[in-house]
Amino acid sequence: MSLGLRLTLAVAVAWGTIALAAPNVVAAPFEGVVIKGKPYVYDPDNAKDVMRICAGCHGDLGAGGGGGAYPRLGGLNAEYLVEQFKKFKTRERENIPMIPFAVDREMSEADVLDVSRFLSEVKLDTKPPADLPKDGYARLQIMKKVLQIPREAGDLEAGKAFFVADCAPCHGRKGEGRVKKPPLAGQHIAYLKTQVASFLSGKRPHEDLDILKAKSEADWINLWAYLSRLLD
Ligand code: HEC
Ligand code: HEC
Repeated sequence: MSLGLRLTLAVAVAWGTIALAAPNVVAAPFEGVVIKGKPYVYDPDNAKDVMRICAGCHGDLGAGGGGGAYPRLGGLNAEYLVEQFKKFKTRERENIPMIPFAVDREMSEADVLDVSRFLSEVKLDTKPPADLPKDGYARLQIMKKVLQIPREAGDLEAGKAFFVADCAPCHGRKGEGRVKKPPLAGQHIAYLKTQVASFLSGKRPHEDLDILKAKSEADWINLWAYLSRLLD
């Protein structure tokens, strides 16, 4: 290869790397936040301590559970988690099971930021590995990272049409969510159903309530069927 060509290639490779790297530079969550006059610094050990409180209901890595009564928190956007937590504190969003844990005495502002950043960085698997170890404890450790959403029955094409037209513009094309618009893919369906019931009854606010109100029972069945398969 001529020197000229080699140089051109080297430049092209370097360019490619820069071009690829640039959009991935994302500031760490809560950079620049000041608490009581002091800059907030992430404390991962404290995050894990706080997580022990949450684990009782949401699972060690926030995979959720209890048949979908407890939502998945692992991998959710950090700012969304903090915002919802604040809403529980101020009772703007009702959450009776969490009240005792959400009060200031239990959770400082730094605790909330720490645990939210920790959770936002969790990557849950959607399928157990093919070669699960025989040892019960080792199996349990692996399964804590696995998010399982049972499939619901319904008309998938109709569910998809509903989702794409009315929900995807905010919740993402694949239901992956966007900053403070939470993911619908990979969330427990039983939990999502409770939330929709809360929106419809006015207990929890949702933008564009009219879209939700316009849907029939059959529409909802089809939507759940579609959403329950989005991570397959
Ligand atoms: C006693 C059980 C319990 C404990 C402990 C608990 N939660 Fe929850 N949490 C719930 C329930 C139940 C809901 C769903 C409430 C609803 O249906 O709106 C919830 C919902 C949430 C949500 C809203 C999720 C979403 O998608 O909007 C966040 C955020 C959250 N919890 C964070 C935490 C954190 C952080 C901790 C630990 C500090 C914690 N929770 C401890 C029961 C619990
Ligand atoms: C205009 C934007 C917008 C549209 C369109 C929209 N949503 Fe949402 N949705 C939001 C926002 C924002 C939230 C978070 C609300 C909050 O902060 O409490 C949300 C929350 C939710 C939640 C609660 C999730 C959780 O983790 O607690 C469900 C369920 C939901 N939306 C369902 C739907 C469905 C179904 C559709 C389509 C019919 C839809 N949304 C369309 C903006 C939107």
